[in-house]
Amino acid sequence: MMQNIDINKMNRLMEENEDARQIINQLLENHHTTISTIAHEIRNPLTLVSSALQMIQYQHPETKDFSHWKQTMEDITFIQQLLDELSTFNNGNTLRYSVFSIEHLLKNIAISFAISLDEKESDIEFTSSIPANLGKFTGDKIKLEEVVLNLLRNAAEAIEQKGTILLTAAHKKDILTIQVKDSGCGIPEEHMESIFEPFKTYKKEGTGLGLSLSKRIIEAHGGSISVSSKNGQGAVFTITLPQ
Ligand SMILES: Nc1ncnc2c1ncn2[C@@H]1O[C@H](COP(=O)(O)OP(=O)(O)O)[C@@H](O)[C@H]1O
Ligand SMILES: [Mg+2]
Repeated sequence: MMQNIDINKMNRLMEENEDARQIINQLLENHHTTISTIAHEIRNPLTLVSSALQMIQYQHPETKDFSHWKQTMEDITFIQQLLDELSTFNNGNTLRYSVFSIEHLLKNIAISFAISLDEKESDIEFTSSIPANLGKFTGDKIKLEEVVLNLLRNAAEAIEQKGTILLTAAHKKDILTIQVKDSGCGIPEEHMESIFEPFKTYKKEGTGLGLSLSKRIIEAHGGSISVSSKNGQGAVFTITLPQ
């Protein structure tokens, strides 16, 4: 995986030399196509396996009692989720711009997140404070939605049982700030550096792609994402975006 220092070197080479710029762009494009093709080629047979297992379960309900059956179904769902996240990660810095209302976007996200908590009969108290003066934003609406949902999902996963999650937004001097604050387990000091790296997860069933993807998307918009947390005392993720 490329480090920031490599990316800086690559950018310098691209600025200095037109041939290098063309070749690197071509290599990056090939790299993206390869990842998309592999994800696609694995997803197809996996969908067949998943459908076949569901069919077996439907026709022979007793299979649910087989040892390892539930785990196998969960593993397949996990691989499907991993492939989806890998595809989104791969396309993280290709933005499809449109002009939209941040207030509407965040309010819709808040509603669907609240519904998902209700469906799980969760004990989490979720509140949002989204002012009406956030104005219009030019960016990739679907990818930004993905980022905020990632942060909200992480917040919910950090809360063992009871707890609170707060989503806020503000617009000041051409800067849009979005914050997700939770009262969950918090992040130990020694994990702070690594949590934005791809595939870095400290969860049993995590993919480790949520935060790295979110960082990619926010940086592609010219913004930044940061975190502050005390172990055991929740976490606050802050996104800033030029507006
Ligand atoms: N709100 C949070 N509270 C505590 N830890 C968090 C929070 N958000 C992220 N993390 C930590 O960052 C890691 C990486 O998160 P992410 O990239 O979304 O991957 P995943 O959720 O699949 O583990 C998580 O495994 C977790 O340890
Ligand atoms: Mg996550």
